[in-house]
Amino acid sequence: MSTNPPTGSPASAPPPGAAPQPFHDLRASFAAQREAILAAVTRVLDGGWYILGQQVAAFEREFAAFCGAKHAIGIGNATEALQVALLGLDIGPGDDVIVPALTAAPTGMAVAAVGARPVFADVDAATFTVTAATVARAWTPRTRVVIPVHLYGQCADMGPLLELARQRGVPLLEDCAQCQGAKDHGRPAGTMGSAAAWSFYPTKNLGAFGDGGALTTEDGGLAARLARLRNYGAIGGYDFAECGLNARLDEMHAAILRVKLETLAANNEKRRATAARYRREIVNPRITLPLERPGAWHVWHQFVVRCRERDRLQAWLAERGIETLIHYPRALHQMQAFVARGHAPVEPIEAARAAAEILSLPIYPEVPADHVTRVIAAVNAFPG
Ligand SMILES: Cc1ncc(COP(=O)(O)O)c(C=O)c1O
Repeated sequence: MSTNPPTGSPASAPPPGAAPQPFHDLRASFAAQREAILAAVTRVLDGGWYILGQQVAAFEREFAAFCGAKHAIGIGNATEALQVALLGLDIGPGDDVIVPALTAAPTGMAVAAVGARPVFADVDAATFTVTAATVARAWTPRTRVVIPVHLYGQCADMGPLLELARQRGVPLLEDCAQCQGAKDHGRPAGTMGSAAAWSFYPTKNLGAFGDGGALTTEDGGLAARLARLRNYGAIGGYDFAECGLNARLDEMHAAILRVKLETLAANNEKRRATAARYRREIVNPRITLPLERPGAWHVWHQFVVRCRERDRLQAWLAERGIETLIHYPRALHQMQAFVARGHAPVEPIEAARAAAEILSLPIYPEVPADHVTRVIAAVNAFPG
């Protein structure tokens, strides 16, 4: 995180009563590719084949190529993708899986869903991701997998994490729900661990108009098993090699995602341009700006600032018609859902502190430039 110096000439707040500015506008995402999306959906409906057909196969090829991954497997959503990957890595009851204390709850839910125990590692205060040091401190004798989350669009520092995992002989499973197109020292997200789980929830950098997800892996044997596990463990002819899930991406969403994939790189550039403006023009010393870690290629799924008086800042922006969100107001070890199911060997202090201070500003690709201008002015005018 870096804090910009005060300029001495604070920007004035936008006029009260100005039109409300939403955090997202998913209609803009549809409008940007309306004809192509409608044509793709119509082709699927006319084709009469709706589950595991040509669209899913083509999307898997195209998404793997986009990620620079050897294999991609279409999945219903990222929660299921994590679950399928954990099953494919033979994780179950009695096993511990290290996850960040600050992430979307489903990262931990997927671990609990396969009967394993989520163990919470603290995050780095500057990047909000786990590090080799925080993961090492959370290690238990039963640790079988580590799930680094590339939170807000920026990869965890994977080199040291991969080295730690190699030394201790456990796989890394990347949670790539928020980082389509991100890189760490030139290596694409989703190609560094044993497998990676992706979400195409509508607001993600690559978003469907419903739920969607994928797995990527470099391991052909694992890819075949994951593809089987997402389809009840089926091996054809109504025969089943093992117990799996129904975790399939459907043809309609695969067809939509193929269209959306065409604009993902350009949309990431738009997010980067908005982030650059925020980082250049927000100059209020009460606000700590997010950092692009050296070596990281950040795709700014969220633009998350820190402020000691976060709730007052959020209310200040709301009064000026600017909607913001908090990703996330509680760390996982603080959630009721994980009290009995999870474990934190070392108190995740930084995660809890971040949860009390973070605020996400609007950064969707189509966000109008004048909205960004108003956000910057309102944040700069936030008084002490
Ligand atoms: C980091 C992270 N992991 C997992 C998930 C779960 O994704 P899905 O909603 O596709 O199941 C999300 C979704 O918000 C996420 O942000």
